[in-house]
Amino acid sequence: MYTQLEQRGMAEPPVNVATLAKMKSDGQPIVCLTAYDASYAVLVDKAGVDLVLVGDSLGMVIQGHDTTVPVTVSDIIYHTRNVARGLRRAFLVSDMPFMSYVEPAQALDNAVHMMQDGGAMMIKLEGGDGQVEIVEHLAKHDIPVCAHLGLKPQSVHKIGGFKVQGREPDKAKQMIKSARKLEGAGADLLLLECVPNELGKAITETVQVPVIGIGAGPSVDGQILVLYDILDITQGRTPRFVQNFTVGQQSPLDAIKAYVQAVKDRKYPAPEHCFS
Ligand code: KIV
Repeated sequence: MYTQLEQRGMAEPPVNVATLAKMKSDGQPIVCLTAYDASYAVLVDKAGVDLVLVGDSLGMVIQGHDTTVPVTVSDIIYHTRNVARGLRRAFLVSDMPFMSYVEPAQALDNAVHMMQDGGAMMIKLEGGDGQVEIVEHLAKHDIPVCAHLGLKPQSVHKIGGFKVQGREPDKAKQMIKSARKLEGAGADLLLLECVPNELGKAITETVQVPVIGIGAGPSVDGQILVLYDILDITQGRTPRFVQNFTVGQQSPLDAIKAYVQAVKDRKYPAPEHCFS
């Protein structure tokens, strides 16, 4: 019954928010990856990934849409449930889909479903100043929150494409302020997508909570990529920050292990994966 207590004595106890906070303070890179089903979840967990995200990127890589906009809360719950069955050690985070967190009460209701019906341990939402009240409401109810800043793919139709964010000094300052506000509102984790290295570093240094980057340079506290990108399953043009980790590897598990090692050794991201 008290599995949480028993797990403390394990050689590799499950990752939780306290583990992630300690990794930041110890300067130990946090390795994160997306997953969408139980079979890959087993591999990702076995390879030593610390945090697994059931991202709304599933709308693109699983469902074949051009954007993440069509993904629903039911889709996320279905995939979260499948991934949860495959994990033993990794911390499980799930994305709140487009328009599922417009009002505080709606956000709380959807987050509760994602945790109770899906098994998510934290929810991620794409946020800025406009979502501070939502984060505050969720945090007040002890829902662990990751706030996603920088390129917010759910806003693709508003921004006019998947573009690097925060290159202009005023936009960079604004993002730093938003990061502080989201942390102040109770966010436990920040995720930064597609920002210049310098901004990734500035935000990481300004907040106490861990900062996970995707295309945010080497100075953040952890890295995340889309599983199908590192396994070279995604066809066509991929973003600059993507690396194919299957090169020289014998199996998907070996490729995931190579990614884990590259993040731990700070060999990924290399300069060619970064934005200035
Ligand atoms: O949906 C997703 O997979 C994400 C990652 C790209 C960070 O948000």
